[in-house]
Amino acid sequence: GKCILLGAPVQDGAGRPGCIMGPDALRTAGIAAALTGLGFPVEDRGNVTARPADVAAAPPAVKQLDVVAGWTAALTDAARAAMRDGFPVFMGGDHALSAGTVAGVARHAQDAGRPLFVLWLDAHPDLHSPDTTRSGNLHGTPMAYVTGQPGFDGLFPPLRARVAPAHVCFMGLRSVDEAEAARLDGQGFVTHDMRAIDTHGVLRLLEPFLEQIAAANGLLHVSLDVDFLDPEIAPAVGTTVPGGATVREAHLIMERLHDSGLVTSLDLVELNPFLDERGRTARLMVDLTASLMGRRILDRPTRSH
Ligand code: ARG
Ligand code: MN
Ligand code: MN
Ligand code: MN
Repeated sequence: GKCILLGAPVQDGAGRPGCIMGPDALRTAGIAAALTGLGFPVEDRGNVTARPADVAAAPPAVKQLDVVAGWTAALTDAARAAMRDGFPVFMGGDHALSAGTVAGVARHAQDAGRPLFVLWLDAHPDLHSPDTTRSGNLHGTPMAYVTGQPGFDGLFPPLRARVAPAHVCFMGLRSVDEAEAARLDGQGFVTHDMRAIDTHGVLRLLEPFLEQIAAANGLLHVSLDVDFLDPEIAPAVGTTVPGGATVREAHLIMERLHDSGLVTSLDLVELNPFLDERGRTARLMVDLTASLMGRRILDRPTRSH
């Protein structure tokens, strides 16, 4: 199938500006060429534009709710359409964009009569709703929206297809707020924090999830937040948390995902090029995408930058 690149330059969900430049940094880092080099036809559909949203009175501490609600509506439609045409790579943009991309992918899965699973690679679970967020930054809310947690009525577009919490696997958790911990408990979410990664290794944690997806003939959406990675290797993010995944762990996850053949869509989120060092984070995100799509170390000579 073909790869569809879709830019989602959302930055109003994050606490500081810069993610608006994310899609162009990923393009500059060579994402299209990396995919073409693996044999995929690539169609860059350019950037999605937000549409204005009518939003009821939001809790006053929540930032830019009308803007993010508008992005959610536009991205839901764009994601659903892209799923019909190929393998979409959603280039962010802050993580608020996943409220739209995952909702759209879930609509597609529903149309196809197949269950949707989500692998959330992130230091954070992003399980707040507008009434629980402490920071007011809506990039902390997309997972709550797509799994149908309360608190979004009249604010975000009504959710037409939800993701079952038991179909969500978090990896890399190391910053969880109180309200999020309450939601992580008892709904069936699969949670692997950094301690679990250190104890068992990423492959052992991933295996049962992949088996479950294969047995259910499910679709798998991967959402990769830059802050899943350790800040030493991926500085271009506004919400760094020490003690993240290494280059090796991240590539190994991507390589195993490729071998599984289960992944049908990908988000690349939270890249803030204003905070990067000579493009190294953007390049790492492109290299991880290439591993997910089948790049192998021995298939190609090492690239010099
Ligand atoms: N839990 C914190 C908050 O709600 C951090 C969220 C970080 N989310 C992200 N997508 N980087 O503000
Ligand atoms: Mn996130
Ligand atoms: Mn995060
Ligand atoms: Mn392949």
